[in-house]
Amino acid sequence: MPKVQESHIYEALGTVMEPDLKKDLVTLAMVEDIEIDEQDNVSFSVVLTTPACPMKEHIKNACIDAVRKFVPAAADVTVNLKSRVTSSCGHNCDHERPLKNVKNIIAVASGKGGVGKSTFSVNLAVSLAATGAKVGLIDADLYGPSIPTMFGLQDSKPEVIDKKIIPLKKFGVKLMSIGFLVDSETAIIWRGPMVSSAIKQFISDVDWQDLDYLIFDLPPGTGDIQITLSQTLPLSGTVIVTTPQDVALADVSKAVSMFRKVHVPILGLLENMSYYELPDGTRDYIFGHHGGEIFAKTQGLAFLGAIPIDRGVREGGDEGTPYVISRPDSPAAKAIMAAAMEVARRVSITNAELSAGH
Ligand SMILES: Nc1ncnc2c1ncn2[C@@H]1O[C@H](COP(=O)(O)OP(=O)(O)OP(=O)(O)O)[C@@H](O)[C@H]1O
Ligand SMILES: [Mg+2]
Repeated sequence: MPKVQESHIYEALGTVMEPDLKKDLVTLAMVEDIEIDEQDNVSFSVVLTTPACPMKEHIKNACIDAVRKFVPAAADVTVNLKSRVTSSCGHNCDHERPLKNVKNIIAVASGKGGVGKSTFSVNLAVSLAATGAKVGLIDADLYGPSIPTMFGLQDSKPEVIDKKIIPLKKFGVKLMSIGFLVDSETAIIWRGPMVSSAIKQFISDVDWQDLDYLIFDLPPGTGDIQITLSQTLPLSGTVIVTTPQDVALADVSKAVSMFRKVHVPILGLLENMSYYELPDGTRDYIFGHHGGEIFAKTQGLAFLGAIPIDRGVREGGDEGTPYVISRPDSPAAKAIMAAAMEVARRVSITNAELSAGH
């Protein structure tokens, strides 16, 4: 008979707090599959709210420490990390929910053009997929679609089976863009009602199947597409991208006000093109110093991270291989991956808050 019992393990893990959700792992029902063998070796699973959890190593170590401390009879302690991505009814719960098999819809937005929305959307999608999440990406920029180029799929056309469009798939991400359906000349002349019907078509006529995260790469500004999206879909939240300079931040202010007005949660602010690292390791803050971070603080928004300017990020976009795939060890790719994990974390926190009726 082993000396250690299941109840001892529950007691020990009941002292481990989930750092973001501020409750213990047992209360949050995150502990599963406890096994204790004859030699008192213990193993159990901790079910995280996202495979992209930036706190996973911290939680794992805290579990081992707690069992060591409170269950001294335990021999080996093995923690298996699993995940079940959480969901909520999003910002407009009263709507009949379209995309029932999609757990979280995230919009990537900005007030200003050219700040790196598409670049971040692509790298965010690929980074989340690399952690094992099921990810889709919609290029909602109907006037200037960039996703086909950024994935090297300029000449690809999706199949249509049983009147449903099958999304293309690359680097583990399911993709849809107006650029896959019409040529770029046609995309430029789209107007008003056609825009919202195209977005609705991306939602209802594409066979997305089960997804943990569906990301919308939005065009700049606060126009038709942003409004259609926030009226049609339950959004888990939006990521606002900016550069550090004042003119970009002035436009970001407008975007923040718009999303607040329509009650879409803002997951946080990402500062792109934050600095350029010189060969001697010093940083040149080309567009200003920490503008995004300061803005986030004054607006009460989470700061998702700062991405440096790196020629490879641009080349990756132009050549169709996201930088997190081609150069995962570079400082810029690492910063992008950390920001992607931060987005997943903010989604989990927002879901917990929405579910608790905040
Ligand atoms: N961190 C970076 N380092 C270097 N180049 C970057 C970086 N981020 C984005 N770029 C480049 O800047 C240009 C604009 O980026 P991107 O197309 O992602 O912006 P956007 O906000 O989606 O633009 P639009 O408003 O037109 O949709 C692209 O050429 C992209 O490769
Ligand atoms: Mg774009």
